[in-house]
Amino acid sequence: MIYQEIRHVISSEQFANIDLVEQLFSRATELKDRDKKRELPKSMEGLSMTYLFYEPSTRTRLSFIGAMKKLGGMADGTESARVFSSVTKGETLEDSIIVVSNYSDVIVLRYDKKGGAERAAKVSKVPILNAGDGTGEHPTQFLLDLYTIGDEFKNRGNNTLERLKGLKIALVGDLKYGRTVHSLVKAAHTYFANGNKIYLVSPDQLRLPDEYKSDITSAGIIVEELKDWNKILPEVDVLYMTRVQKERFESEEEYEKVKGSYIFDEPELSIFNPNGIIMHPLPRAGEISFAVDRDPRAAYFRQAENGLYVRMALLEEVTGYNRRLAA
Ligand code: NCD
Repeated sequence: MIYQEIRHVISSEQFANIDLVEQLFSRATELKDRDKKRELPKSMEGLSMTYLFYEPSTRTRLSFIGAMKKLGGMADGTESARVFSSVTKGETLEDSIIVVSNYSDVIVLRYDKKGGAERAAKVSKVPILNAGDGTGEHPTQFLLDLYTIGDEFKNRGNNTLERLKGLKIALVGDLKYGRTVHSLVKAAHTYFANGNKIYLVSPDQLRLPDEYKSDITSAGIIVEELKDWNKILPEVDVLYMTRVQKERFESEEEYEKVKGSYIFDEPELSIFNPNGIIMHPLPRAGEISFAVDRDPRAAYFRQAENGLYVRMALLEEVTGYNRRLAA
């Protein structure tokens, strides 16, 4: 049993310990089963979580709150920190974190600039969970994405690594600003370097920045960048769609030029790998048509549901639940 190996969660790179991740995932599955039977443990009893969100969120924030409360803990915070907290009075991120870390046992932070979670972790007395830092990373989304791939391909092997082996993965859309893609790519050397192939599908303006591309090429993973996705759709196992991140563009005009670059609709579905899955961190903004939702290969809502249980397991890990149990 691994006791609180992870404290702050800043980057997906921290999840290089496969055994730890496997334990988190089997705990997430156990919690999912127990939730269906209404038999969840009160593992967060007496603990409180504060969420500070400087950018909008639905899934990440509400699944963290749900995870904490269902495990018997408390959750409170601000969903619009730029407007409703002392940030409006000029308080720095560091000061807010120092204060809040006296009030709670874990802080979930979504910041609007890259590096925010790292800055927070430097001054926090309690674990910081990076729920997205601008165009940087989204490591808890990475965990639930990885869990989802393993869960969807259960028949390929007994553990996550076996199941991921040889999969062809296409990352589609806004690879420049999309932080969920950045986190997937940053952990690729651990999870996708076993006969995998990664396709990077984007318009020129939204290509994966070199700093992230080097993470996959240096791991010896076969990478192909392309614009036309039709020829790869029949063979791709995991189609990972993303939203063009409108809020990161300097002008509406620039956004309009690329917003509809990749739309997965019935024609695409008809040629898509019969054994493949379609993922999306959500929210979607037109990239996947509603007609696709009925297809069993559409995994994005199952993916979002998994977030609740993966975050439960992660909360137990960072608050040292296993260690407390053993004490
Ligand atoms: C993503 C995010 O915030 O980065 N959403 C999420 O947390 N599931 C993706 C996005 O906003 O496009």
